[in-house]
Amino acid sequence: MSSRAPSTHPVSQTRFEVPVRTGRFWIRLVRPLLAREPTPFYLFSVVPVQEALEALENSLTGLPVRCWFSAKTQPLPPLWRWWKDLGRPIEVVSAFELQAALAAGFAPDRILINGPAKHHWLPRFGQRGFWVNLDSPAEAVALTPLALRRDWQLGLRLHLPAEHGRASSSDSSQFGMDPSAAALVLRQLRRRGVEPVVLHFHLGTQVPSVARYARALEEAARVCRRCGWHPRYVDCGGGWPSEFTWDRTGRPMARDFSLQAMARVLARARSWFPRLEEYWLENGRWLTAGSGVLVVKILDVKQRRGLRYLICDGGRTLHALVATWEQHPLLAIPARKGRRMLTSVAGPTCMAFDQLALGYMPIGLRPGDRLVWLGAGAYHLSWETRFSHGLAAVYWHDGREIHQVRPPETFEDWWGRWAPVP
Ligand SMILES: Cc1ncc(COP(=O)(O)O)c(C=O)c1O
Repeated sequence: MSSRAPSTHPVSQTRFEVPVRTGRFWIRLVRPLLAREPTPFYLFSVVPVQEALEALENSLTGLPVRCWFSAKTQPLPPLWRWWKDLGRPIEVVSAFELQAALAAGFAPDRILINGPAKHHWLPRFGQRGFWVNLDSPAEAVALTPLALRRDWQLGLRLHLPAEHGRASSSDSSQFGMDPSAAALVLRQLRRRGVEPVVLHFHLGTQVPSVARYARALEEAARVCRRCGWHPRYVDCGGGWPSEFTWDRTGRPMARDFSLQAMARVLARARSWFPRLEEYWLENGRWLTAGSGVLVVKILDVKQRRGLRYLICDGGRTLHALVATWEQHPLLAIPARKGRRMLTSVAGPTCMAFDQLALGYMPIGLRPGDRLVWLGAGAYHLSWETRFSHGLAAVYWHDGREIHQVRPPETFEDWWGRWAPVP
């Protein structure tokens, strides 16, 4: 999905448009569902994931790279199973995700366990063969004996200066160990005869520039030299920015990113890790953002002080929290032409926050029209809410057919989860 010409049904500002091919792909899938299924719903397709994976692997040809599926990004069972059937591994960060990965059929040695404070839940899992990236000295103390008994391979998550894209270190993330803590843990592990095999960092999400990865690899290599550590795997985490996504000021998220530049960075850094066998990547958003849409219906239209409001049956609060900091293309069914005016697309909840999009949209849009919010394949299911409403239906396109894989939540599901007080 690469040509840059505008699509056929865009409703947002010109600069938030998508390639014609992408627009047509989604309109073709969504249209038949509209005839029989109520909105709001998500529709996810395997096709954009296949294409993203292919593009990634073509660009990194010649480099030893393994892609782990980021479970948290898109907790969608049929997609996980498709990925597993390709023989590919998964990365999890919670007990639920680990249980789900095992339930989906991933073998323990195809599961990488990340995330903080996992010494509080990981000991419950007796399987042999997991990959575990330690996040803190306390985790190392608690989990090393289990790793020895259960044949788990260990890694260290480093907290590198390159992670700080932000101005103040008080904004820095809670994850990983700074180089001095990592060196201490390495000494403790070695005293127990354990050599961690994975060096892991994750720079955050929607990292706009390849240069940050170059810096992180340099910093990681410096830590390794200082400690005499030769990891076999350098796990660069996720964070690659998604295409066709803009920040709230209108700048493309992927403004300084390209696969070709990333390939050059990885190739250059290879010699800095003399025993490197593989780079590991855990990109969630980059791989899956383009693989889903949220479809909502316009319920009401208002106009006030030069701003038009489209009140829809779905929106940010319930379905698209990422709309808080991201702008995605919107398509309309039917296509509407004519003069555009500043328009706010609002969800149905009683929250002024519930704004899915703001942009110049055709004044022809009216109640009953459907809006298709693109780029809903990452961090949408993970951040759904039940604010005054139930969860939406989910449809899955396996490349040939579309199946409903989650019905819309009913009132009985929504209210019936509560236990009566005896
Ligand atoms: C350790 C780790 N790996 C991978 C990811 C996926 O990140 P992204 O979806 O930005 O690629 C995350 C996201 O938070 C993460 O924390």
